[in-house]
Parts: sequence; structure tokens; C-alpha cells
Amino acid sequence: MECFEVTGGTALTGRVRVTGAKNSALKLMAAALLAAGRTTIDEVPDILDVAIMSEVLRRLGCEVSYERHEHGGGGRLVVDVPDEPATETDYDLVRRMRASISVLGPLVARCGSARVALPGGDAIGSRGLDMHISGLERLGATIHSEHGFLVASAPRLTGTSIWLDFPSVGATENLVMAAVLAEGATVIDNAAREPEIVDLCAMLTAMGAQIEGAGTSTITVEGVPTLKPVTYTTVPDRIVAGTWAIGAVMTRGDVVIERAAADHLTVALAKLSDAGAHVEPLPDGLRVAMDGRPRCVDVVTLPYPGFPTDLQPMAVALAAVSTGTALITENVFEGRFMFVNELVRLGASVRTDGHHAVVRGRERLSSAPVVATDIRAGAGLVLAGLVSDGVTEVQDVHHVDRGYPDFVDQLRGLGAHIERVERAG
Ligand code: UD1
Repeated sequence: MECFEVTGGTALTGRVRVTGAKNSALKLMAAALLAAGRTTIDEVPDILDVAIMSEVLRRLGCEVSYERHEHGGGGRLVVDVPDEPATETDYDLVRRMRASISVLGPLVARCGSARVALPGGDAIGSRGLDMHISGLERLGATIHSEHGFLVASAPRLTGTSIWLDFPSVGATENLVMAAVLAEGATVIDNAAREPEIVDLCAMLTAMGAQIEGAGTSTITVEGVPTLKPVTYTTVPDRIVAGTWAIGAVMTRGDVVIERAAADHLTVALAKLSDAGAHVEPLPDGLRVAMDGRPRCVDVVTLPYPGFPTDLQPMAVALAAVSTGTALITENVFEGRFMFVNELVRLGASVRTDGHHAVVRGRERLSSAPVVATDIRAGAGLVLAGLVSDGVTEVQDVHHVDRGYPDFVDQLRGLGAHIERVERAG
């Protein structure tokens, strides 16, 4: 079992570089399936989830290679897609990474059929697939489940209008990737507006797709017969950038986050300013500095452009060491407060009720062994460890490896005392 040992008491200071977004790169890799030939994707983070998606693509018959850049945790990924990809993705991969489901749309569109195992996913709520399924059905696919697989077939997809009950990121992406090769026009209403959706649509457009409205609630796709492979660079990871920003404020440090896109973090950065931080957008990044103890600020998670649910654990950890009381409301994933029990083990004063958490700030937290329950909870617990007395052991850190390239090295580069250690399981 691998753990992080975090020794509290040091302010994060210095520079850190952010590579491409996990949540974009995984979908760009799936989108590569839409065109035969060699797609190159740059600034792909060197993380476990990218390795899993590479394996998903290999089993579909693609050749995948990855060359790491010297700095910054990213690299260049090349996917060579065959003329006739295989169409099955097994449970051993989907259960390790729910985003494997994003091959469903491209496979149905390109091959006319797909068998993709039903995911288990992160321990952060039910995470249904109903909107993925009903949207594909509206496009003309027939879908049923058998033996733990979603089985989809559609000799031909036809453009249609689709209304999403909730602006689901994954459903929007799967449906856009299906619609680009459908016959005629598709209009997706109440679509997700995340920068990663805009990124995916930009790559698809470069491949020859006709898409309008990416980044708004209405996306219109005019189907085309074929797409061509391209070379594309992944949008910077706003969640990793936001993690370093919140870490700088919690530890009362001063951090320059290179390549961070401040305009993708508007609400989160406004909250940090309200907490008393100095937030300064730079030509190629962002500086966040904090003098003294932060003030508690209320946070409400919402689909983009609202405060990202993926930064909610860090927001709770921040409030836990701020002055005053904060009300944190989680609107996207029902189970996302599960990690709060771990934070309480560090001495945080947090009470949850349904999708609300009331956090009363304390001067410092107190170290203890804690368990990471998902990627972002793990990162939040490490930040909490940085402001705890003594040595905090964060267990199950394979979750963090799924989403943060060079997590330990990047934190050490900012002056944190953190080590990866092996423990007998
Ligand atoms: C993506 C991100 C994840 C982020 C989330 C919200 C990736 C790999 N993951 O997850 O990090 O936290 O967006 O910003 O990109 N839902 C349904 N039915 C559906 C689809 C979704 O009920 O068909 C529900 C989910 O249970 C959840 C909510 O909608 O409560 C949001 O899910 P969604 O936006 O789809 O998130 P993901 O794409 O899974």
C-alpha cells in the first residue's frame, strides 16, 4: 500500500507548471477513434487514468505511444487508429476508470455498434448513464444491457434534437462525439459548458466536424461523412491549478501557477479573493498569495461556470483553517461529502446534512492517518495535512495518482514536506 507522509507547517512558495486537463485529455483520446490514422495529442498528463485509457484504445485495436516532456508532468500521446476498430471495452478497464464510457459515442458513430461494460466509478454518488443512453437512442441507436455490458447498435445515426435534464459533462461529450458523424443536424439543449467540452469541440472541428455553440447551453452539430486525424494540444488543467491556488491560500504562501487559465477559474478565484488572498492573473498563468489567516467563504458547487465540484474537498479543507464559519453546498455529486469524516479525523469542525456542510474554522488541524476516497478528496486531505501539526499519513493514494501528474514532486518543488512511502497492506 502506498501512502503520502505529509509534515505540516510549511508555506507553499515558488512556481509550478500545469499540464493538460485529465478530464479533457481522456475525451480527446476517445475522440481519436472517430478518424482512421494517426492522431497526436500534446500536453497529455502523465497519470494513471491516461494509462488506463491507452489500454482501452489498445484493446480496440489502436497503437498508442506516449513520450513524456522533461518538465511539467505532461507529454505527447500518439494514437494510431485502424480502419476497423474493435468495439468491446471490458469491465476490468471500465471499473478502474469510469471515463472509459466515453468511447461509447465514438464507437457507435464510427462502427455502428459497441459493447461497453457498465461502470462502477468513483465513490462519489450514483453517477447514472441515463442521459448518455436516451440521447444515443434519440440519435437512432438501439441500446440494451446484458451480462454487465451496455450493448448499442446503430447501422446509421440520424441528427435530432436532444434535451438534457442536467448539463452532464460526460453525456454532452458522448452525444457530441456521436452526432459529428450522424446524418443531418443535432441540437443538444442544456448542454454542459465546461472548458473541457470547448476543448473537445475544438479538436473535433479541427478533424473536420461542424459544431456551433460549444461553451454555451445549446450545441448544434451538422453531421459529416468522415473525419481526419489531427495534432492537438490539451487545455490546461483548471482543477490542478485550482488545487495549487487553494493550497497557497491555506498554507499562507505565494505561488505562481504557470499555464493556469484564470478565466476558467473565475468563481473559484473570486472566492479566494473574498477569503483575503492576493490573486493576480499573469500573461501565462496566475499568482496566488496569502498573508495571515484566510476568512471563511461560502461555496456552492454547480456545473460550469459555477464553482467546480472537483474543488469542493479543497474548499472544505480551506474553510477548516479559516476564521469564521462557512456553508459549503454540493449540488453535483450526492456522495461527495464522504471524505469529510477523514477531515474530521484531522480535527476539522465539519457537520454535514444532506448536500450541505457547515465548517467552523480552526487555527490548525492535528495530524492523523486518513484515507483518500477519490482523486480530489485525496488532494484535499494532503492540503489539510500541510496545515496540521505533525505528520499526516494519507492512505490509498493511488486515487491521487489517477489525476495529478508528479503530485509529490510538484508539492516538494513548492517547499512542502511530503514523501511517498510503502506500507505493508
Ligand atoms: C465529469 C468529470 C468529473 C467532474 C464532473 C462534473 C471526467 C472524467 N470527469 O464527470 O471530474 O466532477 O464531470 O464536473 O470528465 N448524471 C446522471 N445521468 C447521466 C449522467 C450524469 O444522473 O446520464 C448525474 C451524475 O450522477 C452526477 C451529475 O449528473 O450526479 C454530474 O455528472 P456528469 O456531469 O455527467 O459528470 P461526469 O461526466 O461523470
